[in-house]
Amino acid sequence: MTTRGAVIVDAVAYAQAVEDAVKASAAYYGAGTSVLDDDAYDRLVRAVAAWEAEHPEQVLAGSPTGKVAGGAVQGDVPHTVAMLSLDNVFSAEEFTAWTASLARRLGHDVTRYSVEPKLDGLAIAARYTHGRLTRLITRGDGTAGEDVSHAIGTIDGLPGELAEPVTVEVRGEVLMTTAQFEHANEVRTAHGGAPFANPRNAAAGTLRARERAYTVPMTFFAYGLLPLADTDPAQAEELGECAHSDLMKRAVAYGVNTTASTAVPGSTADTVEGVLDRVAGIAALRPSLPFGIDGIVVKADLAADQRAAGSGSRAPRWAIAFKLRAVEKITRLLAVEWNVGRTGIIAPRAVLEPVEIDGSTITYATLHNPADITRRDLRLGDPVMVHRAGDVIPRVEAPVVHLRTGEEQPIVFPESCPRCGSAIDTSEQRWRCTNGRNCHLVAALSYAAGRDQLDIEGLGHTRVVQLVDAGLVKDLADLFALTRDQLLGLERMGETSTDNLLAAIAAAKAQPLSRVLCALGVRGTGRSMSRRIARYFATMDELRAAEAETIQQVEGIGTEKAPSIVAELAELAPLIDKLAVAGVNMTEPGATPPARTAGDTADGGQATEVTEATEVMDATGGPLAGMAVVVTGAMTGALEKLSRNQMNELVERAGGRSSSSVSKKTTLVVAGEGAGSKRAKAETLGVRLATPDEFAALVADYLDAG
Ligand code: IVH
Repeated sequence: MTTRGAVIVDAVAYAQAVEDAVKASAAYYGAGTSVLDDDAYDRLVRAVAAWEAEHPEQVLAGSPTGKVAGGAVQGDVPHTVAMLSLDNVFSAEEFTAWTASLARRLGHDVTRYSVEPKLDGLAIAARYTHGRLTRLITRGDGTAGEDVSHAIGTIDGLPGELAEPVTVEVRGEVLMTTAQFEHANEVRTAHGGAPFANPRNAAAGTLRARERAYTVPMTFFAYGLLPLADTDPAQAEELGECAHSDLMKRAVAYGVNTTASTAVPGSTADTVEGVLDRVAGIAALRPSLPFGIDGIVVKADLAADQRAAGSGSRAPRWAIAFKLRAVEKITRLLAVEWNVGRTGIIAPRAVLEPVEIDGSTITYATLHNPADITRRDLRLGDPVMVHRAGDVIPRVEAPVVHLRTGEEQPIVFPESCPRCGSAIDTSEQRWRCTNGRNCHLVAALSYAAGRDQLDIEGLGHTRVVQLVDAGLVKDLADLFALTRDQLLGLERMGETSTDNLLAAIAAAKAQPLSRVLCALGVRGTGRSMSRRIARYFATMDELRAAEAETIQQVEGIGTEKAPSIVAELAELAPLIDKLAVAGVNMTEPGATPPARTAGDTADGGQATEVTEATEVMDATGGPLAGMAVVVTGAMTGALEKLSRNQMNELVERAGGRSSSSVSKKTTLVVAGEGAGSKRAKAETLGVRLATPDEFAALVADYLDAG
């Protein structure tokens, strides 16, 4: 590639840039093999357009500007009505300017806007005759597309038969959700194929592929509905008069999928400010969506406005794409690091050639586990597509196989623990040092002493390293046996800090069971799961006596997790005993043990008389009984000093269930200042919102108990 920068200096560079752009868009819109990431492609086309604006007399006929799909692809099935592209804006200012120019053209403000996500897939036209899906056609060059009817039956959301026997064309986007993409690459590599770089390429490649030995599902979202040549004339006329938002409702009624089924449903707005609010709302939800979006499409909603605005040869004048920043880029996989965590898990991490994505420089990305590396067919030196959105940890999507040089090397898996040299237990997907929690004792202890666990002030990482290096602490329980003299013998440990630390350690013995459990680092259970387990069983003895089946009664613990928790508790038994002897609390205040059946007892068969815990919980369940609560934003007033973990503990003390993500099941969102995407989602879903003060009043009786 000769022209990746923003400026083209002469006609030779211009001609090269045109050639590069045409090649790139042929790959992008055609086979789905990108040679440039979206950002690099956009920059190239903008540079071409800028040069053309300065030298209009030298514009080459092959230039991609002003053409649907960059003029790179053709097809042989004519479209009834051209399938156009969209013009782009990149900021609120550009958007506002666009609305003003549209208003000038119409002679009045746009009556109403429709706002919906710009799905990152491929445009497709689906023709239904008397309700039956008969033909699928790609966009092609906009006037004619390619027949891809062989894909009928593999696209979720595009039914073979509509709920009504109508003759219509449904237009929309075919894409792969993140889960469908991972599945597709897994199946493809298992069949000896090369992985696709990202969901969009995977959808493009899959849609065009014929006679594959396997099929992988994709998903369709409709964004248009129009009559065909043999649609009943009265119905054709009616469709032509429908607002876009009504057409989308109709598509849903026919049984076709639209964005209405997602967390970012299409909506309407009457003002520019209303549109910008919605744009911000959709943008905020982008990182949490299970599919890719690369912008927001804003359309004049009414058919009359659309007609009056008309269309150019490339794009309609009544719609615009408000582009969002690219969240994926191609970079190089330089190395793989193997790090041992606090429970002994050995996790691979990708070291990348630094790349800027969405405003931050990315140097590392997760790789999950060794099997995942094999499944993705990743190699050292590979060009890789890296994805990062919002605060979500960056991930390597896949190698960009057609950019390989042939110099790539296999990734070597460790044969022994990279930290302590012990053997590796490879029996599960996630590898683990056979030395378990003792392998990275410093990490295990630092975590246990942390604010959300035993909350031992003064026991930070450096102090833990000192204790471990001095041989004073060999496991968590040893902390509670530390003497004043031992601590005073350490470097930089004066009398005051020694006494403070001893007091903090002594105070930690009184932490509730939920925090002790969390401090132990039972694999597969974090803070909220530890709280749920502790509330359910009430005492460590009850929990340890429970079989997998009983543990499954705890919400969120399924058939896979329950046995692993049982195994973990067995592994931790000596440590738990030692902690109990040291005087560490093993009960959860306010919780009652569950009713037990004979033979499933903490005291070897003599079942104690216990009440029906669940009934008791429901009857005296507190002000949040039965509620699913999400806390977001900064807490103020009476709640100001509470960490997020303490807020969640409060929710649960008051009888509710705390969660970190908003869904249809959420009953209350406590939204403090700076609440962003979660508040937006709550508003979209119509979930009740409370300010920190309102919430504090609701749970006032439970505020001090923590
Ligand atoms: S409307 C004439 N709505 O974006 C109107 N397009 O860059 C054209 N796209 O070809 C399409 N989501 O493949 C529309 N909600 C949406 C869309 C959307 C994604 C794609 C579509 C189109 C391309 C234009």
